[in-house]
Amino acid sequence: MLLSLIQIKCLTLSIPRMMEIQFSAFDSEPYHRCLYPGGNTPSARAAAGLRVIQEREHTPQQEVVGCVDSDTGVMVGFVKWIFYRTERPESSWSKREKVDWWGVGENENKEMKRKAEAYLETTEGTRQRIWGGRPHALCALLCVHPDYQRQGAGTLLMHWGMERARDMGLPAYLEASFEGYPLYKKLGFRDIDSMIIKADIWGGGYDRVYKAMQKDF
Ligand SMILES: CC(C)(COP(=O)(O)OP(=O)(O)OC[C@H]1O[C@@H](n2cnc3c(N)ncnc32)[C@H](O)[C@@H]1OP(=O)(O)O)[C@@H](O)C(=O)NCCC(=O)NCCS
Repeated sequence: MLLSLIQIKCLTLSIPRMMEIQFSAFDSEPYHRCLYPGGNTPSARAAAGLRVIQEREHTPQQEVVGCVDSDTGVMVGFVKWIFYRTERPESSWSKREKVDWWGVGENENKEMKRKAEAYLETTEGTRQRIWGGRPHALCALLCVHPDYQRQGAGTLLMHWGMERARDMGLPAYLEASFEGYPLYKKLGFRDIDSMIIKADIWGGGYDRVYKAMQKDF
């Protein structure tokens, strides 16, 4: 498969395909299931898409790049990087995201909401503790559609952001899923911290460990 990269400036046009990719790629990932308990439905994808668009409004440092099958023009994956080039004041980096994107029925389930916010708290809290307002390049989301995985798209998308980070003189940082971890290791990221999501939060039989990883250039 011949792959090419496109920088996504107009999110509205690309969001439907991006959300198809995201929901298929993270189908079995408890973190995603906790944030979008309705599963892969049109309304959950619409809510998630709106969340990405709103995030761009609040985070001008965000850049989204898609990976396209050059023969068909179909987007197969995308990455979201946030390049924090300058020191940020505490009022900007210390905010915690609220789970406010759910539909009416889901919103009534306070227990589910508490779990989703506990998940976010673990990753955001770790990020804030490590970086505070210091400049860095955050790889906030990477996903490749399951039909197109293991063909180099993830690597290409990561290289794009890593090259930008290197050019800007920023360390690159991310929180790795189980699936992403081998790719990041291969690309030279090292473990700098770990996050434990307790079994009762994600609803499984054991505590899950996610790795915070960094690469310096
Ligand atoms: C992680 C992910 C983005 C990788 O994308 P990809 O396009 O399949 O990655 P690549 O084809 O570039 O893989 C490059 C190398 O990474 C490693 N790798 C990638 N996926 C792997 C997996 N599932 N298990 C083990 N190693 C893997 C391999 O070394 C691979 O090289 P190889 O295929 O020659 O063995 C993709 O599997 C995905 O979207 N997963 C679900 C969402 C997710 O977990 N995203 C990461 C969030 S932190």
